[in-house]
Amino acid sequence: MIDAKTHWFVNDRFGLFIHWGLYSLGARHEWLMHNERVPTVEYERYAKYFEPDLFDPAEWARRAKAAGMKYVVLTTKHHDGFCLWDSQLTDYTVMNTPYRRDVVREFTGAVRAAGLKVGLYHSLLDWHHPDFFVDGMHPRRDDPDAATINTDRDMARYRQYLHGQVRELLTDYGQIDYLFYDFSYASAPFNVWGGKGAEDWGSVGLLAMTRELQPHIIVNDRLGLPGDFITPEEYQPTATMEVDGQAVPWEACQTLNGSWGYNRDKGPDKSVDLLVRMLVDGVSKNGNLLLNVGPTGRGNFDPKAMEVLEGLGDWMQLHSRSIYGAGSSRYVAPTDVRYTQRANRLYAHIFAWPLEYLHLPDLAGKVEYAQFLNDASEVSMLVIDPSAPALTTSVGGQPAGTLTLKLPIHRPHVSIPVVEIFLTD
Ligand code: GLC
Repeated sequence: MIDAKTHWFVNDRFGLFIHWGLYSLGARHEWLMHNERVPTVEYERYAKYFEPDLFDPAEWARRAKAAGMKYVVLTTKHHDGFCLWDSQLTDYTVMNTPYRRDVVREFTGAVRAAGLKVGLYHSLLDWHHPDFFVDGMHPRRDDPDAATINTDRDMARYRQYLHGQVRELLTDYGQIDYLFYDFSYASAPFNVWGGKGAEDWGSVGLLAMTRELQPHIIVNDRLGLPGDFITPEEYQPTATMEVDGQAVPWEACQTLNGSWGYNRDKGPDKSVDLLVRMLVDGVSKNGNLLLNVGPTGRGNFDPKAMEVLEGLGDWMQLHSRSIYGAGSSRYVAPTDVRYTQRANRLYAHIFAWPLEYLHLPDLAGKVEYAQFLNDASEVSMLVIDPSAPALTTSVGGQPAGTLTLKLPIHRPHVSIPVVEIFLTD
């Protein structure tokens, strides 16, 4: 539901996801422990080399802001179990690496100081914890003793650990605006043995504690319980999203290259133009975009990721008016155009540039003025008589109610051109 709590979120629309941890050193996907069935002791050795001398969260925040993002979400712990904060409940933390500083403290401070909302990601899975039941997703799933390993394990103890760690994160780091729990896999479409969900995490209690410790926080939907927003991952919904017939806030999370953690051998495969279209398309369906960057093991963003953020920033600097505070419109956009609307301003995002005329159904008589958003230059409008013949150089009649925009032959020199349309009411 869109309420006082989610108001900032549906207004801001665009955030940065940061996946950072020991897997950043492996530099080949944050699931490498699972993918390669890496034994715990072998994986742990990354901790010895975690020395991010270039880590500067103020710089992360600055880059997010310059890209037009309004909130930043950091992995406190991913499925590998390694903790980026000074947890009192385990030694498997950043304090026992050469770095020896509480990353979550520095991150939350810097992001807040930059005026951005602070988000934390926390993995429900933990492939390092000795009480976490081995299941079909666990790195030890194929061990010869996989069936008997669990006899010594105790999920109740793991639950206590999970809740205790979340309590630390939500008590010691000031106001946390957003929490992304990840994830539940007890039922379809996950068909793994030993799949886990709400019961295993103690989700009812965990969610209640989360809300009690941070009354303003918004929580995602991966605890196996409904949350404040839903989280399509690596796909773009084709319509506004609903749960039980009720419109719900949603946020698509997207990678640059199919990997959340830094992947040395895979540069971004999504262009700036595509990412702008994804952002716009989402907002036109009342959704947010949480775009991921996986910093390197030294703590900086790699040059290719920075280039993409800069490209997004160039577009946002001129067009954020069509994004912040905007959402779907009741008007139906023509092919290759996406509408977003904020009060009486309608934004036509032109994905494919037409030759001179853009015909907008149902808008005749409802528009006061139109201009390009990138340079505030007027866009002229006409209504073509439905009965006018198509003759020699004249465009034929358009269906009644159509408003036609007359566009220049050259499209504006921006990723996606936007016409700002002032509706009469
Ligand atoms: C997933 C993955 C993961 C990533 C995430 C982001 O469920 O397990 O590695 O962190 O979702 O949405």
